[in-house]
Amino acid sequence: MRLAEIFEIIETKLAVGMTTLDIEKLVEVELKKRELISRSKGYMGYKHITCISIDDEVVHGIPSVNRILQDGNIVSIDICVSLKGYCADMARSFIIGKGSQEAIRLIAVAKSALDKGIAKAIPGNRLSDISNAIQQEVEAAGFNVVRDFAGHGIGKQLHEDPEVVNFGEAGKGPILRVGMTLAIEPMITQGRYEVFVDKDGWTVKTKDKSLAAHVEDTVAITESGPMILTRFGS
Ligand code: MF3
Ligand code: CO
Repeated sequence: MRLAEIFEIIETKLAVGMTTLDIEKLVEVELKKRELISRSKGYMGYKHITCISIDDEVVHGIPSVNRILQDGNIVSIDICVSLKGYCADMARSFIIGKGSQEAIRLIAVAKSALDKGIAKAIPGNRLSDISNAIQQEVEAAGFNVVRDFAGHGIGKQLHEDPEVVNFGEAGKGPILRVGMTLAIEPMITQGRYEVFVDKDGWTVKTKDKSLAAHVEDTVAITESGPMILTRFGS
């Protein structure tokens, strides 16, 4: 919920000419106001509180004073925090300015795939019901899901078991139970799904340089269904 507020603020401030380091600094102020502790800073040597990925960058882009937002860019922002020891992880993709029809559609499909996946996060379902729902939604729109990175269980640690992949047959894996909390995060591409890690050691990019989008929510499984901890109303 507090993270959702921060994403709302980010959305109002994004503009041509801003750098990705400006976004990082803005987020730093907003985390402090809300007593949220960054869980990416210090994670495997990562030095920042946001990951900001532009266009063909899928995830784990490093904020930098040299990355200036341009009209039409897709900007994917990922923030993970904890409050009283419990983690939340959230990401959204935004367009700077008007954007191409294809970029707008890519982001819309990522979001609807996330929603389709979340809808399967109910007690008694299997883990891969989530994965399959995401893949179906993305491929029906003519896009692809990244195979090399996945969502994850989340709790006192940012990354817990199980891994929540974004593809595969339904009806496999552990049975979902009340109390499980998952970070569900489709990473989708306009073109092929192959990715590589840039020479900076972090930034994940599409091999074919096609556009990518990434959206993520943290979801608790309750008796009455999925409770989205990173949206308003939770
Ligand atoms: N938030 C990312 C995830 O969804 C993890 C970022 S860790 C970092 O799993 F070190 F790259 F920031
Ligand atoms: Co995550």
